[in-house]
Amino acid sequence: MSASDGRWIAPAEEGLRGRVQVPGDKSVSHRVLIFAGLAEGRARVRGLLDSADVDSTRRCMEALGVDIVDEGDARLIHGAEGRLTEPDDVLDCGNSGTTMRLLCGLLAGQPFHAVLTGDASLRRRPMRRVTGPLSSLGARLDGRQGASLAPLSVRGTRALTGGEIETGVASAQVKSALLLAGLQGRSPLQIVEPGPSRDHSERMLAALGAQIRRLPQDDGSVRVELVPGRPLKLSDVDVPGDVSSAAFWLVAASIVPGSDLVLPGVGLNPTRTGLVDVLRAMGASIDIVDPGLSCGEPVGAIRVRSAPLRAIDLDGPDVVRLIDEIPVLAVAAAMARGVTTIRGAQELRHKESDRIASTVAMLRQMGATVDELPDGLRVHGRAGEPFPGGRVDSHGDHRIAMAAAVAALASSRGCRLRDPAAVTISYPSFFDTLEELRA
Ligand code: S3P
Repeated sequence: MSASDGRWIAPAEEGLRGRVQVPGDKSVSHRVLIFAGLAEGRARVRGLLDSADVDSTRRCMEALGVDIVDEGDARLIHGAEGRLTEPDDVLDCGNSGTTMRLLCGLLAGQPFHAVLTGDASLRRRPMRRVTGPLSSLGARLDGRQGASLAPLSVRGTRALTGGEIETGVASAQVKSALLLAGLQGRSPLQIVEPGPSRDHSERMLAALGAQIRRLPQDDGSVRVELVPGRPLKLSDVDVPGDVSSAAFWLVAASIVPGSDLVLPGVGLNPTRTGLVDVLRAMGASIDIVDPGLSCGEPVGAIRVRSAPLRAIDLDGPDVVRLIDEIPVLAVAAAMARGVTTIRGAQELRHKESDRIASTVAMLRQMGATVDELPDGLRVHGRAGEPFPGGRVDSHGDHRIAMAAAVAALASSRGCRLRDPAAVTISYPSFFDTLEELRA
């Protein structure tokens, strides 16, 4: 890498101040577009995330015959009522695991053939977790290594069955793929997941009129029951701000002295707010004001001010509620007092990059001390001492790029970030906002 490679991120000398309108929730945005394939009517959608991942979903849904029209900042979506058209080319899911896994479920019930592929990262990610359970509903899917890896081929059928399925992994993508197939099936479907995963699909399907129930069990598992047959009806929605994007500002403002930020309209679905709870337990100054509801999801404004942080130990279900936030949480831990241990996070090895390895590498490149564990990491806190700074590689992973930028703000020399464009996957305006917030 030459000296001019990548993007330079300078330390934030005076703190971060102002209001941040975070972009729309990525998980909710994918679902609005995909569920429109099965729903009737039309919806004016405001706040839909405009990013590379959601664009992948939009282009796939358009290739399947769903009509989506831009109307200023809003998107007008016409439901296809379950009558999609056979795409005349391979569907490209880009970098987006949500697109590929949810489309497997949608296409499993359509009477035609389709092929799904994606970029090199997505073609390495595990797909058996969706193709396996879907085939037990009668779906016909194939792919490399026994339907484990994309490209995947789906030969849809109108003859899907229901029944009870244990997913074996707490994954909202697996659950949502099954729900999309189940909506097109001939009999009721019961899904049992070993622990709670994000429940946007259940909320949105209930709002569209589906007969669906989510039942947390005493042993920690979650049972989701769906009875197909009711029509799904679209109505206008405001997509809440993405708490996973807010996460970068929550950590940045916490660790850069003199910061004070307000983030209005952030989605506060309890299956997603693990980072808010953990940062508070670490001593962060975070207040939630103006609570409300949007798109069936709790929302609110978050105010965050800098505060000294202390270490924490995390494992098990704690981790699922903040799985996408672990890279930036590790940055917070590195600035805290004491040693933080994060375990039970082996799922991170299967994200856009191996996020245990890439988080460890990023922190070391910034000058922090961190140990890699098979299922997590141990971070040695610096008790507020700025990171020395250095050159960091995003590994083409949006969340690693933004976590590194947050670390750079709390460093003495800043960082030169290789492949900063990865942020376009979920937060295209991230660097513009970062520069605006410097006090
Ligand atoms: C997502 C679910 C999560 C998350 C991913 C988005 C979704 O993955 O990590 O970024 O939109 O359903 P899992 O399916 O592994 O829970």
